[in-house]
Amino acid sequence: MRAACCEATVLRNEVIAPDIRLLTVVWPDRDHAPHAGQFFTLRAWGADEAPFMSRSISVHRWNPDSSTIEFLYQVVGEGTEKIAQLKMKDTFQLTGPMGNGFDVPDILSKYKKIAVVGGGIGTAPLYQLVKELAAAGKKPDLYTGFRDEPYGLERFSPLCGRVHVATDSGKVGYHGLVTGILHPEEYDLVLCCGPEPMMKAVAAKCGAAGVKCLVSLEKKMACGVGACLGCTCHTTEGAKSVCKHGPVFDSKEVFGQ
Ligand code: FES
Repeated sequence: MRAACCEATVLRNEVIAPDIRLLTVVWPDRDHAPHAGQFFTLRAWGADEAPFMSRSISVHRWNPDSSTIEFLYQVVGEGTEKIAQLKMKDTFQLTGPMGNGFDVPDILSKYKKIAVVGGGIGTAPLYQLVKELAAAGKKPDLYTGFRDEPYGLERFSPLCGRVHVATDSGKVGYHGLVTGILHPEEYDLVLCCGPEPMMKAVAAKCGAAGVKCLVSLEKKMACGVGACLGCTCHTTEGAKSVCKHGPVFDSKEVFGQ
């Protein structure tokens, strides 16, 4: 399905943590409803203003009842700073949904015991994922890793089995990396999103345990449709665009394990 493009209207842009925001927008195009793991590109500035490129942000939550999309994002540069300035009733250009996302029907048909693993802002797309799994009666176990103070976990709890937290500082939960509390051999499938070193470490544990692992890669994107080759990643099948062929890949394909 081709991505749609429209002027989206802001309902809320809330502060969740010092550098984390939750943007809620109206997306009336139900023919282009997103699913878990897909992303949109956001442009909250004019063509003559820097930054020029749109910013890609994954879907945190799609609410079909209110036709709204929530984006949980980190303010990390000029583009996201401009997005953070959006206020209620502001409009901006929103294009999507894009990417393959997680194939939840396929996952449900093949796997029973599922672990979902997220690191930092990499937990953002995992909420829509656990929502879709829980709606089909499959509550996965959740493993999360944060630097210090976790955010956004309260809404995961009703949709998950066990919820595990690890923090680098030891402030909450296990003191250390999330790989210190994950035992892939307890599961049939591990679904992961977070910083690349974390995903590689999770993939390595899964590989050693013989457990399939799907990872959602994050790359800076421009066109979002596989045209500019700006988000190329190396796979066992050659170079692929994360935006067009991903962002979800089998970890063996992109990390070799
Ligand atoms: Fe242009 Fe992926 S962003 S090819």
